[in-house]
Amino acid sequence: MTQTLPSTDIDLFADEVIADPHPTYRELRDAGSALWMSRYDCWLLPRYAEVFAALRDHDRFSSASGVGLNDVMNQATKGGSVLCTDPPEHDHLRRILGSRLTPRALRGHSEDFLRRAHLLVDELIEKGSFDAVADFSSAFPLSVVPDLLGVPEDGREHLLKWASAAFQAEGPMNERTQSSLPDLQEFLGYITDVAGEQKLASGSWGHQMLLEARAGEIDEKMLPPLLLDYLGPSIDTTISALSTAIWQFALHPDQWDALRSDRTLIANVVNEAVRLEAPIRGFGRHLTHDFDADGVTLAAGDWVFVSYASANRDERRWENPGRFDIHRDTAGHVGFGSGIHSCVGQGLAKLEATALFTALADKVTRFELTGEPVWNVHNILRGIATLPVTVRV
Ligand code: HEM
Repeated sequence: MTQTLPSTDIDLFADEVIADPHPTYRELRDAGSALWMSRYDCWLLPRYAEVFAALRDHDRFSSASGVGLNDVMNQATKGGSVLCTDPPEHDHLRRILGSRLTPRALRGHSEDFLRRAHLLVDELIEKGSFDAVADFSSAFPLSVVPDLLGVPEDGREHLLKWASAAFQAEGPMNERTQSSLPDLQEFLGYITDVAGEQKLASGSWGHQMLLEARAGEIDEKMLPPLLLDYLGPSIDTTISALSTAIWQFALHPDQWDALRSDRTLIANVVNEAVRLEAPIRGFGRHLTHDFDADGVTLAAGDWVFVSYASANRDERRWENPGRFDIHRDTAGHVGFGSGIHSCVGQGLAKLEATALFTALADKVTRFELTGEPVWNVHNILRGIATLPVTVRV
């Protein structure tokens, strides 16, 4: 018996859907557990249960053919990074990247982050009114990982554009993807260039990996991809989470008051921000075996778009999913993915956020919006582009 495929012609990558995605995600969740996206010839998983199951089933939902929605990018990236490999290659790369990102390895940075956070917050209080994205959220992501990696100052001014292009290019082959390709090429050129010994600061993570490559512990040709694995996903994602949190604290001052009177809540801020507005909308997977999505059979060989953003708002899983609540039990949210590809850098993102919100909580009593947030229009990333705020002390 042939099944009638539940399908949709909704364009998840249309400007108007990207600008206001949540009503569409809801419509898609209500339409089914798996939907064939006729415009893109691939499946969409919009509900939490199937997204979680897919992320945990990496043998069936393979990343080794790429995680994008176009052949150009998938051909170029497959097998070439931790994101686009399956075990055992994945595990080897993940161990190298993860060794510097364990809680124990990161602990040594918290004092420095807090010092830097206080300097930044003092500057912003002095200004009074500012753009929370450019002046607050971008400061750490654009300096912390580049400093740790030891990449030169020269070129850093392009990092935001380049890192964004690396995500953009994972979308379907639309106008946005096409126009991101030259920026992505530049990014790859820069990374290959700095992988040369003289360009990585002595003692940095990058330099350590170079020495490990010399010692035969890392395949030398994997050095640029490893640098890219640290740098590419660390910028826009963290900026997005920090901006969402500021926006929500401005909208819900009671949440800010709660955090100020109980600092243990700071640990949950990034999780709740990333649950509410997942910075990565979703990634692709290639099915190696059939998958049963609550009665719908997805066939081996099909492509699947796994939507973290929709799953994190699924009413079937979350109570009042549109509400920002830092008291919420956020365990199980998929804004950092789940399973073997779950974000290896989340501890670092949380450490940055902890330092920043601790410094803010010490001094700022209120965030007031002085204009509406303007959102980026992007294939894969969700994040605020500008957020005018005033802070009160
Ligand atoms: C709030 C900030 C962040 C968010 C929301 C985020 C989100 C994600 C998500 C959803 C995945 C899963 C990808 C998949 O399922 O295929 C992921 C993986 C990854 N992230 Fe993050 N990320 C953040 C910060 C960072 C930082 C700071 C770094 C680097 C220092 C980083 C490096 C990576 C890497 C290398 C992977 C691939 C891991 C693997 O394939 O095993 N991320 N991230």
